[in-house]
Amino acid sequence: MKRMLSGIKPTGQLHLGSYIGALHHFVEYQDQYEMFAFIANLHCITVPQEPEQLKKNLYDCVALYLACGLDPNRATIFLQTDVKEHAQLGYIMCCNTYMGELNRMTQFKDKQAKGEKNLSGGLYTYPALMAADILLYDPDYVPVGEDQKQHVELTRDVAARMNNRYGELFKLPEPLIGKVGARIMSLSDPTRKMSKSDGINKGCIYLLDDLDAARKKVMSAKTDSLNQIRFDPENQPGVSNLIQIYSSLNNDRPYSAIEEEFAGKGYGDFKSAVADSVCTTLEGIQKKYREVTTSGMIEDVLQAGAAKARPIAAAKLDLVQRALGMEIHF
Ligand code: TYM
Repeated sequence: MKRMLSGIKPTGQLHLGSYIGALHHFVEYQDQYEMFAFIANLHCITVPQEPEQLKKNLYDCVALYLACGLDPNRATIFLQTDVKEHAQLGYIMCCNTYMGELNRMTQFKDKQAKGEKNLSGGLYTYPALMAADILLYDPDYVPVGEDQKQHVELTRDVAARMNNRYGELFKLPEPLIGKVGARIMSLSDPTRKMSKSDGINKGCIYLLDDLDAARKKVMSAKTDSLNQIRFDPENQPGVSNLIQIYSSLNNDRPYSAIEEEFAGKGYGDFKSAVADSVCTTLEGIQKKYREVTTSGMIEDVLQAGAAKARPIAAAKLDLVQRALGMEIHF
């Protein structure tokens, strides 16, 4: 069975973009692949966090993995810091990644361009840690949204360079980007990605949003004055974003079928249908979330997941350190 690995960094609440672009693919693929899904808590602290809030976000992230349908009997679910090899291989990857490569990563460049002050060193080197997260497990595929593709490509480049220099250490992973919804945009500004840093902005639908609030966000989504439901991201970014959301929440329904369904109808009707799909999805997730959080199973799931992940990660780190001449055995 081929292996798949991915993670989410819960710096805030998970939202519809992370669900459509990533999480629902983890669930979809867990039968066909050996699935490793982790919570990237080392990545969280690359930006300042309030400890109590971070703890809650981590807990909610695991609960939402389960509520969205990840099954701990099929998938290995773990917290990054429970497998210490991530940080150690992360350091080794950092030493094998060029500053020129890190300088090209758009996420850091964007933050720098916004003039944000006191950006941390960890934020700059975080793609090297992400490479370690992946390479520790030799996955064949890494399911991610469009914004993470560049990081998986960097992972391949650094892995190939190290394989060349030190012998076969790592399998080169492929990014797996969904055909629909790889980049869900903000509802209030469809030229920007829907993102956790939106705060309580009405452009972002959180998976734990109150259903009425979620419906209102969809109903007030920015559209245009063309009054036609057509997939045309350049000229109708808002409508096209809603089409993607609707398609993804309805088994990747073809855009042409959606255009036909709403031919001659107004934006109100269309938004209502999108809101229904969003609310049905959220309602199901929230019901399971409540079951999971009262079941007391989260700690057990993390313990079992870490126990499965650790030996794999330890063997890989040992292989790498030996190949680099870093170990003396006793
Ligand atoms: P993160 O936490 O920012 O996002 C988690 C996943 O959700 C996808 N995503 C989106 N997809 C579509 N539309 C959106 N608006 C949207 N927003 C987020 C992201 O592409 C991602 O797949 N660095 C990673 C976490 C990570 C990781 C890894 C992932 C750490 N190590 C190893 C894979 C493998 C991140 O910050 O994702």
